Amino acid sequence: MSGNLIIDDLGHLDGEVLIFGGCYSNLQAARALLAEVDARGIPPGNVICTGDIVGYGADPVAVVDMVSGSGWAVIAGNVERQIGAQKENCGCGFEEGSACDRLSQGWYRYAVGQVRSDQRHWMQALPDMITFIHQHRRYLVVHGAPSDIARFVWPVSDEAIFRSEFDLAEAVVGPVNAVLAGHCGIPFERVMEGRHWINAGAIGMPPHDGRSLTRFAVLGSRGVRIERLQYDAEAAAKSMVHAGLTQGYEQSLLIGIWPSEDVLPEEMRRVQRLASG
Ligand SMILES: [Fe+2]
Repeated sequence: MSGNLIIDDLGHLDGEVLIFGGCYSNLQAARALLAEVDARGIPPGNVICTGDIVGYGADPVAVVDMVSGSGWAVIAGNVERQIGAQKENCGCGFEEGSACDRLSQGWYRYAVGQVRSDQRHWMQALPDMITFIHQHRRYLVVHGAPSDIARFVWPVSDEAIFRSEFDLAEAVVGPVNAVLAGHCGIPFERVMEGRHWINAGAIGMPPHDGRSLTRFAVLGSRGVRIERLQYDAEAAAKSMVHAGLTQGYEQSLLIGIWPSEDVLPEEMRRVQRLASG
């Protein structure tokens, strides 16, 4: 990442910390997440959002209002950075002609048309990264990766990628035990030379696993747990249809398969693998 980074430090956090990202304008999922936070008795100061509050879904305005008014710690995703700056695309840098490139032109245009100017200003002021200490371990929260807000780091990415991103993280904020990320939509934990890379996944879209449940993460006394979020996916899909968002992501909420799997590393694709027998 270049330019002047905004890095917030939350200090020491005690008790459970809930981390989530990828609301993707999915109001039903965001409400379910809020209910989880309440049910677990987690205070607002212990909830962290990894960005991409806005995305494929029908309700960007309501979701931004909910998250911005929650008292939770939030970093910008590439979508918030792009909408905040009134850019013409989501900023993922998809290959021209790829499914993500084609599909993002639909949902992104819809989202930009909905979001209010005060919400754009709120997005502009969001930090790029957050640091905090929990259970004597220091964490850095990023959207994609320390090097690039829109870098896709997958569970199957090369070790060299993790190593260079850990090194860059430490060059920017000093020693860290773990990096917490979002953006790629796939929850996972990878441990390398004692350093943890944790992706909290997305609450607004299932992780391409053939089911409708989405994911968030909870840091507790024994490290991180990836948790499943059950929510009214049918209502979310219906809202998308009603809003004219019918490029395939509305189906993904129900069937758990992305229409854009060409963004995934080959070994993580499902449809192509099934098609090739
Ligand atoms: Fe993102």
